[in-house]
Amino acid sequence: MNTGTNGREHWATRTGFILAASGSAIGLGNIWRFPYMTGEHGGAAFIVIYLIAVCLIGYPLLVNETIIGRVSQRNPVGAFKTLAPGSPWWLVGALGVFTGFVILSYYAVVAGWSLAYIFKVITVSQGAGIDNAEVFSRHISNIWQPIGWQALFMILTIAVISAGVVKGIQRCVTILMPIFFVLLVLLILRAVTLPGAGEGIAYYLKPDFSEVTGRTLLGAVSQAFFSLSLGMGVFITYGSYLHEKDEIPKSSGAIVGLDTVVALLAGFAIFPAVFALGFEPGAGPGLVFITLPAVFAQMPFGTFFGLLFFFLLSIAALTSALSLLEVVTAWLIDERGWHRKKASVVMGVTIFLVGLPASLGYSVFNCFSLPFFEIDLLDTYDLLANSILLPLGGLLTAIFVGYVWGTEKAIKEASKGSTGFTIGKWWAVLIRYVVPIIIAAIMVTGILDSLGR
Ligand code: TRP
Repeated sequence: MNTGTNGREHWATRTGFILAASGSAIGLGNIWRFPYMTGEHGGAAFIVIYLIAVCLIGYPLLVNETIIGRVSQRNPVGAFKTLAPGSPWWLVGALGVFTGFVILSYYAVVAGWSLAYIFKVITVSQGAGIDNAEVFSRHISNIWQPIGWQALFMILTIAVISAGVVKGIQRCVTILMPIFFVLLVLLILRAVTLPGAGEGIAYYLKPDFSEVTGRTLLGAVSQAFFSLSLGMGVFITYGSYLHEKDEIPKSSGAIVGLDTVVALLAGFAIFPAVFALGFEPGAGPGLVFITLPAVFAQMPFGTFFGLLFFFLLSIAALTSALSLLEVVTAWLIDERGWHRKKASVVMGVTIFLVGLPASLGYSVFNCFSLPFFEIDLLDTYDLLANSILLPLGGLLTAIFVGYVWGTEKAIKEASKGSTGFTIGKWWAVLIRYVVPIIIAAIMVTGILDSLGR
């Protein structure tokens, strides 16, 4: 087994970490959320703001978390305990573990829809005159089907995590990530070669700054958090499986770059096809499950490409879910001395149960949605995580390193093993001032905004 001097399991290779971490980052957020956010928020104008958010907040925070993980060689709770013994800072780690729990509970519901659609797209695209909005709403308002797929998705996730860091996570991402990239390229080639694709590309890339509001900024920053898996200790946990000789600044750059490129490319797989076949791009969250199946239904070889698309989406979701369950599992292993198998199974099953209301929110619990007072449980989970828990986690982690543990120690730790590019004073400025100020401002606006609605 690949254990270091401290008995902890470590990534078997440098690419193991990069693949696992980009597998975590690249997920539903890139393929399902990023394109519709871009569609709703002014196309390329949103992309520009997103890129700025990634550079000013995303990269610095990703490095920040990874440093905490590697230096402490612990899960998020243990990491804060190690770096600030006897203080209440471990609560930030606990917040992260809790957040991971919440996110995975509803993430598995959407991932389950994706698995179901691998098969559904085959049937859907064969019949003419099928209303895809109807098909989708019938699927999610069914009680047992979505739960069955959600359960299957959780079983897959548990199976990988229970096998360990190298034999489970690393082995899985080494197989799946290359498949993911091949599928993505195939789908893009199909989309951009359809007659009329140019209009979709123009729509996607034409900046419309008139659509940019405070909401857009909020949307861009929370999208960066979600897409990069920041603010809840994924990178503390994955960083804790790094060796001293691994280069944090460079690997982090590769991860941020891959995640961003995949988000941008997802738009090229989707918008040209949507426009070429005469559909509306602004469908919001329904873009992937309602508009796309209709697009595939009319495309030459559409059934095949539809199947590929939902397979791609499911792979992306699985490699992200691994990181969410790993955070919770690592906490129980390190802090409570549980065995990996027991920790992953008990937590995986509990998370599945907690996610049930989010799934049943479209069937059994649909009665909460009165005409003037609509509660979408899945959206509520998502809102809680994205607008509050993740930014709060990121903010506190930045403050911890910026003002408590110290950016000097952090820079020194990051430079270990670095042969070329490393972080310096500029990073300290971002972590101490830029990141906290932007996150605090965004959280306040976001909360005021949702109260005012
Ligand atoms: N980044 C993943 C996506 O884009 C989701 C995800 C995985 C995540 N782990 C996370 C989001 C931790 C926030 C925090 O789909």
